[in-house]
Amino acid sequence: MTPTHFKTSGHLLVCQHVNCKARGSDLLYRALWNALDAQKLAYFKIGGSLRLTESGCLGACSAGPVLCVYRQRAGGLEEGWYAATDFPLALKVARAVHEGAELPDDRKYGP
Ligand code: FES
Repeated sequence: MTPTHFKTSGHLLVCQHVNCKARGSDLLYRALWNALDAQKLAYFKIGGSLRLTESGCLGACSAGPVLCVYRQRAGGLEEGWYAATDFPLALKVARAVHEGAELPDDRKYGP
């Protein structure tokens, strides 16, 4: 049975591989989950829409913590990649995805 009551606007991934972890990505991941939960942005909250997943290496190890996001837009699948991600930036990206706004340019790079 497919759960149809969950609305998803985007999927965030935070690298949890060695180099990003050495730069605090595990704390970033936990802090972001706590914020998505507390601010009702997570998909399992009423009105929430975001998924968040730990990932393996995202290929920008010297620039971690790395965050990437995927979301469906009118023109197709959009992706955003962020280097040296801290909590304020991660939350800003999450809010933009949830609200359907443009992704922030700060520390955004193309893979
Ligand atoms: S360790 Fe995070 S991008 Fe490679």
